[in-house]
Amino acid sequence: MNHLSPLLVQSSGICAERGEGSYLYDSEGRRWLDFTSGIGVTATGHCHPRVVEAAQRQVGTLVHAQYATVTHPNMLRLTDRLYEHLPGALDAVAFSNSGSEAIETALRLVRQASGRPNIIAFTGGFHGRTLAAASMTTSTTKVRSGWQPLMAGVCFSPFPHSYRYGWSEDDTVDFCLQELDHLFLTQSAPADTAAMIIEPVQGEYGYYPATRRFMQGLRERCDKHGILLIADEIQAGYGRTGRFWSHQHYDVQPDVLVTAKGLASGYPLSAVAAGRALMAEGWPGSQGGTYGANAVACAAALATLDVIEEEDLVAHAAGEGDYLRQRLEALRGRYQCIDEVRGLGLMLGLEIVKAPGQADGERAGALLKACESSGLLLLRCGTHGQVVRWLPPLTASRREIDRAVDLFQDALEETA
Ligand SMILES: Cc1ncc(COP(=O)(O)O)c(C=O)c1O
Repeated sequence: MNHLSPLLVQSSGICAERGEGSYLYDSEGRRWLDFTSGIGVTATGHCHPRVVEAAQRQVGTLVHAQYATVTHPNMLRLTDRLYEHLPGALDAVAFSNSGSEAIETALRLVRQASGRPNIIAFTGGFHGRTLAAASMTTSTTKVRSGWQPLMAGVCFSPFPHSYRYGWSEDDTVDFCLQELDHLFLTQSAPADTAAMIIEPVQGEYGYYPATRRFMQGLRERCDKHGILLIADEIQAGYGRTGRFWSHQHYDVQPDVLVTAKGLASGYPLSAVAAGRALMAEGWPGSQGGTYGANAVACAAALATLDVIEEEDLVAHAAGEGDYLRQRLEALRGRYQCIDEVRGLGLMLGLEIVKAPGQADGERAGALLKACESSGLLLLRCGTHGQVVRWLPPLTASRREIDRAVDLFQDALEETA
């Protein structure tokens, strides 16, 4: 009998037994090209030999070096290796287990350090499912409904969703920055505002990149008012968008950066980075947890960085991302149900519609089912489940990308 909670719903009918590279296999040896990467986690593919070897070695050496009790070499080495990739000013790192937990760590830090209560989050953002993270999330009411009231002290300002507004990028950014300024006059005065939190490329809401002018507008307002800028890089960071961090597309530096997912190729690990001086403004003893910086997860994270660097996966994501986008744009030219191709690098979304501007979650669901039957695993997102998202491993080959797009095209024909 299956005792799994009925509320833990799977998007596919697959029971995955084994993973290798871009493929997942079930117990009967059927295989699927996995272009979900476990929601953007297995950036180095499933069971990359370097990651497997590092984790296996660590399992037989030391697993739980409780980090509020002792340090351990992998954790210390990982802070050094991460620092090589972090924006220069962010030289202190705190570890935890999941994205949501790291978001809460960031929240605690900015409130304690600033002594201010409020947070500005942006419409459509997804920051996790725990109470404070859900309180800053508006990608869908599913995360917020049924257990409100959530945490107080969060205000929302519009994110530049030009597609949804139907306006030009410039008009949308003007509107969003004006609304942000208005928010300071109506909802949260700058002196009450600890931080802004943003996904530089929104994930769950539908793969919307912010724009350079918008991000720079946030940075200017943060600098002017002494507000901290938190970049939630949990889904879009770690090479996914063709830059190591997605905020690097906009020439803007955050004060606090949150990362997870791709960090350890599937081992539970997340991190918050900030400048040492800012970190020291948090209250002593306020960071920690039982399992954070697990020694095996840190070993996997170190091996993941080796693979990313040695296989030049960030450049690969940029190059193959351009190629995938071209192929998806070609499909958009042919199939009217694709209204827009959005995203950056290997984080791309297709807006599926009945007619221009009319979201079609049903068709997107049918497309995913058809792909699953033919051996391709994709996910969807967006408020109506209308965005088909492409998140292949950063190691995906040109052949695999071509195969996936061909299978998707067959699904478009089949569901027409
Ligand atoms: C941008 C972003 N922030 C936070 C989270 C929450 O991470 P977790 O599911 O590990 O708690 C996610 C997860 O999808 C995410 O995409």
